[in-house]
Amino acid sequence: MNKFDSQQNIGDIVVAFPKAADIFKENKIDFCCGGNKPLKSVIEAQGLDENKIMKKLNELYEVVQKDNRDQSKDWNTVPIGELVEHILDTHHAYLWSELPKISDYITKILRVHGENHPELTKVHKLFHMVKMELEEHLVEEETIQYPAIFRYLEKNENLDLIKAVKVISELESEHTAAGDTLKEIRNITNDYLVPDDACRSYDLSYFKLIEMESDIFQHIHLENNILFPKLVALLNDTCEK
Ligand SMILES: [Fe+2]
Ligand SMILES: [Fe+2]
Repeated sequence: MNKFDSQQNIGDIVVAFPKAADIFKENKIDFCCGGNKPLKSVIEAQGLDENKIMKKLNELYEVVQKDNRDQSKDWNTVPIGELVEHILDTHHAYLWSELPKISDYITKILRVHGENHPELTKVHKLFHMVKMELEEHLVEEETIQYPAIFRYLEKNENLDLIKAVKVISELESEHTAAGDTLKEIRNITNDYLVPDDACRSYDLSYFKLIEMESDIFQHIHLENNILFPKLVALLNDTCEK
């Protein structure tokens, strides 16, 4: 059954499902100041395709629900190849898609609210620093470590496993650095406390940062605590043979 219907107010939909804002933004549906209207009336007024928008909205909701279910799965029991596929499809895909969008939001609230909220300058700087570092980190994993893992699983050659293990300490330090920056952003924003004069974009920016923090922590957990120890154990096993 569909979660949302077009009779609901735009603002209520975004409150219940903040990612709906992505679809509204794409279709130039105002969810900030025009959030008090039923979605249907705005769709009709702007000559948009109701079926298409409702389908996209409900599909996106299902995807997010699935991600939430994935978080509670016991990844320790999953084969390495499947775990890496999951990390790529879920966490890497999330960052590649969301980092540019969050950047837009953070820049927007800096422009609108920066004068009254000087901490936004620091948030803007720290976010873009961690964005750049994460992008380089993802590339390193996608071009060096993960391909070495897949090659090892396919051909069983130790050299590939050694290559995958060799980069672990560097990747772990990068995880620590990203985690530290996220903690700094959390401190500066007073645990993402939205000020009274904030608009919906302010609210959404903080929501997106919280969502990113939780996604990255889960991503790092899967690598630091499950994937990397599995690779090291595998290498130790093969050396003992
Ligand atoms: Fe990763
Ligand atoms: Fe990583």
